[in-house]
Amino acid sequence: MPAHTCKVVILLSGSGSNLQAFIDAVANGGLNASIVAVISNKPAAYGLERAQKAGIKTELVDHKQFADRESFDHTLAERIEAYQADLVILAGFMRILTPGFVSQFKGRLLNIHPSLLPKYPGLHTHQRAIDAGDSLHGATVHFVTEELDGGPAIIQAQVPIIKNDTEDSLAARVLKQEHKIYPLAASWFAKGQLELKNEKVLLDEQSLPAQGFQFTD
Ligand code: GRF
Repeated sequence: MPAHTCKVVILLSGSGSNLQAFIDAVANGGLNASIVAVISNKPAAYGLERAQKAGIKTELVDHKQFADRESFDHTLAERIEAYQADLVILAGFMRILTPGFVSQFKGRLLNIHPSLLPKYPGLHTHQRAIDAGDSLHGATVHFVTEELDGGPAIIQAQVPIIKNDTEDSLAARVLKQEHKIYPLAASWFAKGQLELKNEKVLLDEQSLPAQGFQFTD
């Protein structure tokens, strides 16, 4: 990471509670970075309001205005580069990104996925974990690579699945942990401690285990 303050661009499509966790972490000193822009592909995303309230620049790049994925991703990439982003955070950004986009930002593109990857890539992770009878579930922050939800893990938090859990009750328990581990991973990146090298994650120059650093409260 450069000597200057890490410039972060956050992409989202919805509520933006993870964005809020980043805003709070910057405000309380847990994350030494500057959130330079929030970009949404959906005009109604509540995350845009959260950003505006925090005085962060917002942009809409509406995928419906583009003929195909390539042209959407091309414009999105241009907008991100305009901010000279050091780090790009996918925070509930519900678009599949093209290989071209991913390779342009590789090593500086993070996602959070609500499961203990490699379990349950894709959608409906909470219900799938309940249906499988799992006793543990959680969330994983990972570098984004060409494989959907498949990039190398940085940090993972586990939560128990409790009797009578519903998709919503479990999602809420997981989301609480997301709000801790995602800004923490970004803070490592901002301090230059975190790196993607030869498809492996290095934290303080040490390789992390395949499922990432195991976070406990
Ligand atoms: C989170 O569960 C995240 O793991 C998933 O989308 C959700 C986004 O929530 N990728 P929010 O918009 O940050 O509240």
